[in-house]
Amino acid sequence: MADLIVLLGPPGAGKGTQAKVLSRELNLAHISSGDLFRDHLSRKTELGVLAQGYMQRGELVPDNVTISMIRERMANTDCAKGAILDGFPRTVPQAEALDLFLADSKMGAVRKAPYIKVEAQVLVERLGGRWSCRAGGHVYHEKFNPPKAAGVCDVDGSALYQREDDKAETVANRIRVYFEQTTPLIEYYRRKGVLAEIDGAMPIEDVTRELLASVR
Ligand code: AP5
Repeated sequence: MADLIVLLGPPGAGKGTQAKVLSRELNLAHISSGDLFRDHLSRKTELGVLAQGYMQRGELVPDNVTISMIRERMANTDCAKGAILDGFPRTVPQAEALDLFLADSKMGAVRKAPYIKVEAQVLVERLGGRWSCRAGGHVYHEKFNPPKAAGVCDVDGSALYQREDDKAETVANRIRVYFEQTTPLIEYYRRKGVLAEIDGAMPIEDVTRELLASVR
């Protein structure tokens, strides 16, 4: 059986930041649907071209496309032990497709779904000050988690950039889309008895401590 953890939370809640630590601590693969789309985008694949418009508008990429991308990624050998899923599932049909895939592939079921809770006004400040690295997807914040040297990734030395979809108008739409389409997943996983609610307004290290306690 594989160990599967789904990280839930609005844009800017800290899913990517925390997934990197959980993946290291638990020795599980980190699968970020957003990073996968951004990789396709940078390589200008057919999928990247298709996803681009949705991402720029802060809308969700259609379920069928997203589900097949994740299924393909999860078939990689590095997921045999399990994975931290960051940004997927994001709709009830995606969650149902994930359950089906896990059962069909004999990987098991989602063991825990920590939900990182953060108020909407905090999210806007977090996304507005976010800087990411292209090489490894490492994430910083100019105020809350600055890199040692401005504009340079501490881990791999690559240049940091601000995401296109972190512009104020796109952020507002991403948050709206999250509340409309993704919040039903909180009940979905609560009903399955695997939801863990985490206060995401705390400093990064405190959120990490609570998250680790919830999944261990
Ligand atoms: P995606 O890349 O998944 O974006 P998201 O879910 O909106 O999440 P973010 O990456 O913006 O935030 P995060 O929670 O990871 O926060 P982070 O750790 O970076 O998706 C992008 C797009 O791709 C979507 O809009 C959609 O178009 C498409 N897509 C992706 N998945 C899809 C799916 N399943 N279905 C359909 N479409 C899909 O932290 C944010 C900032 O806050 C950073 O600067 C960080 O340093 C800082 N920070 C983190 N934690 C704290 C803390 N505790 N205190 C202070 N600052 C903190």
